[in-house]
Amino acid sequence: MSEVRILYRAQSMKILSIETSCDDTGISIVEFVDKQITILSNIVNTQTIHSGYGGVFPAMAKREHIKNIPDVYAEACEMAKVSKDDPKIDAIAVTVGPGLEPSLWVGITFAIELSKKLNVPIIPVNHMEGHLLSSLLPNYEFNKKINLRDLPEHAISLLVSGGHTQLITIENSKYKIIGTTVDDAVGEAFDKVARMLGLTYPGGPAVSKLAEQGRILPKQNSSPTFPRPMLHSKDFNLSFSGLKTAILYFIRDNPIKNEDDKIAIAKEFEDAAIEVIVKKTIRAISETGSTHLLLGGGVAANKYLQSELEIAGKENNFEIYYPVKEITSDNALMIAIAGYFNNKPTKDYDTLKANGNLKL
Ligand code: KG4
Ligand code: ZN
Repeated sequence: MSEVRILYRAQSMKILSIETSCDDTGISIVEFVDKQITILSNIVNTQTIHSGYGGVFPAMAKREHIKNIPDVYAEACEMAKVSKDDPKIDAIAVTVGPGLEPSLWVGITFAIELSKKLNVPIIPVNHMEGHLLSSLLPNYEFNKKINLRDLPEHAISLLVSGGHTQLITIENSKYKIIGTTVDDAVGEAFDKVARMLGLTYPGGPAVSKLAEQGRILPKQNSSPTFPRPMLHSKDFNLSFSGLKTAILYFIRDNPIKNEDDKIAIAKEFEDAAIEVIVKKTIRAISETGSTHLLLGGGVAANKYLQSELEIAGKENNFEIYYPVKEITSDNALMIAIAGYFNNKPTKDYDTLKANGNLKL
């Protein structure tokens, strides 16, 4: 995401959006009229092929996107009750980065072909801006006019996903990234810990479920304690690699014997990771005088993160906008919203490829 972006809304627009930045193939068709959105369709096909590998293999992801995207397109058109050959759209919004290059390539190529065929422009969208603006959708209902929330004038956005962990200020519609992870993203750390605990990818929800069980049990003397990296650093950066390594060494020295051991590790990991994120977020909010927190990304679905932020919001007097659970993970609907807000249609396909940093 570039450092500063001006947002504005077009008057009325029907957008078909495409998301293929990682392992989800998503297409949605959405109608916007001023502040109102009508979701006509939102299809996501999540690739299951990676579950045994602990992470996403780019070449495999690309192959799956190529295989799936025509069907996802057909399904999105069918659900929106429009013709595949002429869906009557005004623009195509497509994720151009950040993400896995081979995966992005599939979405962008599909968008270019469609743009030429339908003679409509393309709106290049930053994936993280999609996550950021996803929290402006207050509920998830189809074929109904929904009022989008207004973008607050002074807000912080916390973006927590498998690829990114960012703190962003939003001041009068301008973004600025003020903090980021210096190594692993928090979702990536969840996935790596899941792998150490023998859980399948993506492991975030499974680790979180174990941690939840641990939270209702009394703390044992033998329970591990893991570090809170960069908790006291003066900046807003975060780090999760040291925490992950501490867990790796702990398991090497204390081999897992039973489910209780897994529960204890998962809970202590989640406590450590969430504590650092929440404390840095609170400090960002108080130092910038922000009134709102906009949450986004796959890890935004984490119940413990939500409950800790809820407490912080009450104590520090800020309001939280959560994305509805259907669009916390990667999806095309958030790309349509970002496309509408940051509406810069183009038919300059070469620029588009350069934006996505693609070598076609
Ligand atoms: O935003 P997302 O779908 O994809 C990226 O853009 O990276 O985020 C996926 C990440 C994965 O690392 C997954 O393990 C994590 O979000 N995740 C969670 C939870 N649900 C998904 N992490 C912790 N707790 C959860 N409940
Ligand atoms: Zn994402």
